[in-house]
Amino acid sequence: MIPAETLQASHPAAAPESRLVALAAPESQAAVQYRVLFQRLLRVASRRPARVVAITSAGRGEGRTTTAANLALTAAQESKTVILVEADLRRPTLAALLGLAPRAGLADVLDGTAELGQAVVRVGGLAVLCAGDARDPAASLRSPRVPAIVEQLRAAYEHVVLDAPPALAFADGDRLAAAADAVILVIRAGVTPRNVVRLALEALGERAAGVVLNDVDPASAGQGRWLHADSADAVPVPGSRRSAG
Ligand SMILES: Nc1ncnc2c1ncn2[C@@H]1O[C@H](COP(=O)(O)OP(=O)(O)O)[C@@H](O)[C@H]1O
Ligand SMILES: [Mg+2]
Repeated sequence: MIPAETLQASHPAAAPESRLVALAAPESQAAVQYRVLFQRLLRVASRRPARVVAITSAGRGEGRTTTAANLALTAAQESKTVILVEADLRRPTLAALLGLAPRAGLADVLDGTAELGQAVVRVGGLAVLCAGDARDPAASLRSPRVPAIVEQLRAAYEHVVLDAPPALAFADGDRLAAAADAVILVIRAGVTPRNVVRLALEALGERAAGVVLNDVDPASAGQGRWLHADSADAVPVPGSRRSAG
């Protein structure tokens, strides 16, 4: 693992409305589904490379950060060495979600103004690399430093979870997203239009390893309505506000 400062994160893990259900409500239906998702990922990893896994979605606000953070926390709870990397440099939200003070992050490492060891922090058993302050996100993500940084992360952790930008970035010169072995597409239940899901899956091609149907109403899950994702591999994650109690 990369040496990292251990931070006392003030994440609101104890708050019942916390999005970090893997910490705040480990017995909730949503937390169970993140464990299911992690087991699916391990199964994928037994068949094909999946050490670096990107969590993406067709648009914004569908639950990439929520899914990436809960998946990484779940993996770390299974005593795996895991790093959660905030690769969506345009709209950083992870530091606030985890209650971390601003500091050097991925953008600074990509721009060559910080070393990985200065930017990676530990939150409990999880290593975290927040986005940092990107002056030009597109340029940072095209940095020639990307391959070497990804190799360093790959060598140091069993799982590298990328909180990635929306799916089209994968075809858009984003070298970090392109370095992922496998991609999980998050779909917001009842929100993301079916044709948009299809386009996103086409853009991802063979690297699409699975689908998370996020914010499913548990009341409808038993009736198979969430299967509208058209994928037997979809992991339905209930809305945390509805399932945390
Ligand atoms: N399963 C869920 N249940 C309840 N709220 C959710 C769920 N997933 C995401 N949200 C909420 O939706 C918003 C967008 O989620 P976020 O993970 O930040 O999306 P993205 O990273 O794709 O932009 C946040 O306010 C988050 O709290
Ligand atoms: Mg996000």
